[in-house]
Amino acid sequence: MRAMAAQAPGVPSVLQLTQLAIPVPGEGQALMKVAYVGMNPIDAMARAGKIDFMPIAWPFVPGLEKTGIITAVGPGVDNALIGQRVIARSEFGGYAEFATVKAKLLLKLDPRIDLKTGCAYRGCSFTAWHGLHKAGRMQKGETVLVHSAAGAIGIMAMQIAKDAGCTVIGLCGGPEKVAYAKSFGADHVFDYLETDWPERVKAATQNRGCDVILDGNGGANAEKNIALAAPLGRVVYIGATAGSYPAPISIPTLIFKNISVVGMNLAPIEDPPGSATDRAIIDAAATGRWKVPMSEVVALEDVADLHARLESRRVVGRAVIRVGGDLESA
Ligand SMILES: NC(=O)c1ccc[n+]([C@@H]2O[C@H](COP(=O)([O-])OP(=O)(O)OC[C@H]3O[C@@H](n4cnc5c(N)ncnc54)[C@H](OP(=O)(O)O)[C@@H]3O)[C@@H](O)[C@H]2O)c1
Repeated sequence: MRAMAAQAPGVPSVLQLTQLAIPVPGEGQALMKVAYVGMNPIDAMARAGKIDFMPIAWPFVPGLEKTGIITAVGPGVDNALIGQRVIARSEFGGYAEFATVKAKLLLKLDPRIDLKTGCAYRGCSFTAWHGLHKAGRMQKGETVLVHSAAGAIGIMAMQIAKDAGCTVIGLCGGPEKVAYAKSFGADHVFDYLETDWPERVKAATQNRGCDVILDGNGGANAEKNIALAAPLGRVVYIGATAGSYPAPISIPTLIFKNISVVGMNLAPIEDPPGSATDRAIIDAAATGRWKVPMSEVVALEDVADLHARLESRRVVGRAVIRVGGDLESA
């Protein structure tokens, strides 16, 4: 089978077209014919050898958030899975025509959602919803500040906050990203490559500050979050795409400013498939109430260039990688 694999950690060009044997599903596994993969920053970080929170074997085939069809199952797995359209989001391996996946972690793809959209909507909508509603305890009428607002989670977060009746301020880097983020309905989007962005955020809140701040970016801009939080505000950290986390905040600062700093990691706090939250999020994406920020579709062979563009911050929304394309289910 065709795969884009890296022999060792390194720059995007370590990803090379390779022929690999089709894997055989083991105990508890299913074999997935891969249709599409979302371009997740974790894939780029893993390829570069920068993550230690997930197991990575070299040669390494990235591809975390993927859709496809189950073609075989290993021992202990129900045969009824064969022919199902699924989403797999917990293991790498999607940059290949076939991938083995843990059967118990597979999610059935809603019949209203196509395979291409399926690899682009799930992680970003669920992460944004849980970051804002569960960790951020967002309430109607509040002001919500979203970092990296032209990224996939940023775009979903802005729409979810608008849907909840909040005033939404987005932050992103460069005029093209500002225009892209604005097209998803934010009240204000500011360019954080311009140094006066904190003053603009303050002015947009009449100097009160923001009730919820969602930051998956980290880096130098994250240091400003404390100053931009309103009394009783919640600053929610979900990642560090910019490469570093802000310095720890002193407890006296939290006391005097009346704010909370919260971390959010989706997997342990996700409600089970079929729950009310699960259905509400899927419905919003399937009906188009929240637009899925699918920005471009790239061929598997061109994925090294896509990694390079992502790392130089030239990708908006969620780029999608075509592996097998629009496969027919059984
Ligand atoms: N906690 C959780 O459960 C959870 C789950 C999924 C993802 N995440 C995290 O959420 C964050 C956002 O994910 P996403 O899927 O929305 O990512 P994305 O679509 O790739 O967007 C990330 C944004 O980060 C900004 N950025 C800043 N420095 C960058 C750099 N050095 N390289 C690349 N981008 C950089 C870019 O915007 P600008 O150019 O505008 O700054 C880019 O649009 C990531 O840190 C991810 O790991 C967390």
